[in-house]
Amino acid sequence: MDQRHVEGDLVLDETLFTEEEILARLKELAAEIERDYAGRDILLVGVLRGAVMVMADLARSLDRHVEMDWMAVSSYGSGTKSSGVVRILKDLDTDVSGRDVLIVEDIIDTGLTLSWLITNLRSRGPASVEIATLLRKPDAVQTEIDVKYVGFDIPNAFVVGYGLDFSEKYRNLRCIGTLAPHVYS
Ligand code: IMP
Repeated sequence: MDQRHVEGDLVLDETLFTEEEILARLKELAAEIERDYAGRDILLVGVLRGAVMVMADLARSLDRHVEMDWMAVSSYGSGTKSSGVVRILKDLDTDVSGRDVLIVEDIIDTGLTLSWLITNLRSRGPASVEIATLLRKPDAVQTEIDVKYVGFDIPNAFVVGYGLDFSEKYRNLRCIGTLAPHVYS
């Protein structure tokens, strides 16, 4: 049984990244982050719920002290596309003024949610706000958002696993891939 199965059912059509490939890439990003933030404290801000796995593995790849906090936001949208109108469901517990904030994301699609989040966090007077995302889709590349750390640029397909869901399922898959048609048809 490979990483594409849940309860014996083959739920993924195609594997984009295995757990090993994801962890190897996160190690590379962690090395860049260690170099860029030498001598500065980092506050990692994870965006619930999708970024849980990325946060856990990225943070453990960093050979240095970090603080972690979480935000939960909901984006009002039609269908699967977000609108950029965002509501905070859970705010940070940490005061970010004067802090070096590194937002940790699972995926950037349109970038609208993230764009709102950056504006919101910048208004709180941090020393810096940067972004680390495991995945980035083509539409996001066209936005004005400067994403400092990108794991993989992927095609415009709906993917699940490693924190990413379809109707709250498949977040616990170890790999990332596209859903098999029998799952949603
Ligand atoms: P954006 O505002 O369009 O960038 O929305 C980003 C959010 O949409 C992500 O944090 C995910 O929760 C969700 N999302 C976008 N693409 C996918 C996907 O392929 N699979 C699962 N969730 C996705």
